[in-house]
Amino acid sequence: MSGVNNGGMNRRKFLATAGTTLMMPNIMRAAKANDTSDLRIAIVGTGAEGQVLIDAALKIPDIRFVAVCDIWENWNRKRAARILQKFGHNVNEYLDYRDMIANEKDLDGVLIATPDFWHHTQTIDFLEAGVHVYCEKEMSNSLVNARKMVETARRTNKLLQIGHQRRSNPRYRHTYHYIIQEAQLLGRLTTINAQWNRAVSADLSFPKKYPVPPEILRKYGYKNMHQFRNWRWYKGLGGGAIVDLGSHQIDIFAWFTGVNPASVWASGGTDYYDKETHEWYDTVQTLWEYPTSNGMVRAFYQTITTNSNQGYYEAFMGDQATLIISESASRGAVYRETANPETPLWDKWVAKGFIMPPSGTQQTKGTDVRETVPAEEYKINKTFDDPYHKPHLENFFNAIRGLEDLNCQGEIGYETAVAVLKVNDAVRTKTMHTFTPEEFYI
Ligand SMILES: NC(=O)c1ccc[n+]([C@@H]2O[C@H](COP(=O)([O-])OP(=O)(O)OC[C@H]3O[C@@H](n4cnc5c(N)ncnc54)[C@H](O)[C@@H]3O)[C@@H](O)[C@H]2O)c1
Repeated sequence: MSGVNNGGMNRRKFLATAGTTLMMPNIMRAAKANDTSDLRIAIVGTGAEGQVLIDAALKIPDIRFVAVCDIWENWNRKRAARILQKFGHNVNEYLDYRDMIANEKDLDGVLIATPDFWHHTQTIDFLEAGVHVYCEKEMSNSLVNARKMVETARRTNKLLQIGHQRRSNPRYRHTYHYIIQEAQLLGRLTTINAQWNRAVSADLSFPKKYPVPPEILRKYGYKNMHQFRNWRWYKGLGGGAIVDLGSHQIDIFAWFTGVNPASVWASGGTDYYDKETHEWYDTVQTLWEYPTSNGMVRAFYQTITTNSNQGYYEAFMGDQATLIISESASRGAVYRETANPETPLWDKWVAKGFIMPPSGTQQTKGTDVRETVPAEEYKINKTFDDPYHKPHLENFFNAIRGLEDLNCQGEIGYETAVAVLKVNDAVRTKTMHTFTPEEFYI
């Protein structure tokens, strides 16, 4: 379904009043429609996430990797080239993405998985060269540059997919379309509670025999190997945990509520780690307001990196049920508020295949009368056993072929970047940030 995940009613209302054709279907931009030959794909940035993307893409038919670029020549780049070779993809290797653009004249698409501060220049240069781009989140660590990425995609008429892969995840899409939209099982949504909690971990190191030469590090914006490996904690390079992890889930808040946030209040700091090496906050807690057409929804979100309690999930709570979902495939159920006499039975939705029959009870009995009737657990009736990133890549490749619209085009990535990057401002200034609707539009 196109246009369902475009960040909300505020946005649609604005577009209607602005009379713009901004939401031009991506399908119009496809270059490879009716072409059944392999797509020629390159990748820039073959670190942890680049490797995940390669592994997932190798499971998709009719994709041919032709080039890889990474400045860590004798480690990440060699490893990626070796794996691709093993799967029959003979790739040209590049240190600098500009040489890749100069030499690879018939690329259909590029996957960009470099640190956030490189995304905008690389994305813009590939788009200008006529190549469709799949760019990892956060699309940029600067809103000015994120805006330029979207503007360039529009002007060049090329696709720009941002790597919020839950947007293509079949469990999330099933939940949004059937459980929330069609069956409206949550009733009146009032609150959201979500988190990504990670245990204490050591800074990333590197094999001492294979450092990146200091002149290469400097040329590409890194002071030393420690900063190069741990870029996400440095100002100007990444955005810390709220951007790295929170971005995925705060993106879902806007998708599932249908609106962008009106405000965010945040508290955080580098409370545990060394402030020299963790310039961005190791702990962030946030409160959001989402003014939906059905009333206000308030959200709490936290990401901490000192304790992994309960891991990562999103809980959407309405007056008739709670939905708990996570990218981790083991979590996904709706809990019917049996204590609410208004809550209808759900046999119909079980019969329709939206949810599984209740398997038991989840909530602990309390002393309050309203807690004495435990909620019934209905699992989300959608399994998904593939690598998490595969459907999002498939969506990008299918969009290049003109078969689908993108699930997370640049405009959506931009809206999420606005929400998420403002959290760090709110932490720094210790003030509530109030969003204007215009802030989300390009
Ligand atoms: N969608 C997801 O679930 C997800 C998960 C993790 C990371 N990410 C995103 O993926 C991106 C990469 O993260 P990561 O964890 O793989 O980081 P990483 O440090 O493991 O890998 C980054 C790679 O980019 C290379 N590199 C750095 N600067 C470069 C440049 N100018 N040109 C070419 N190569 C360059 C490095 O040598 C390294 O191999 C980030 O934007 C991150 O936010 C997304």
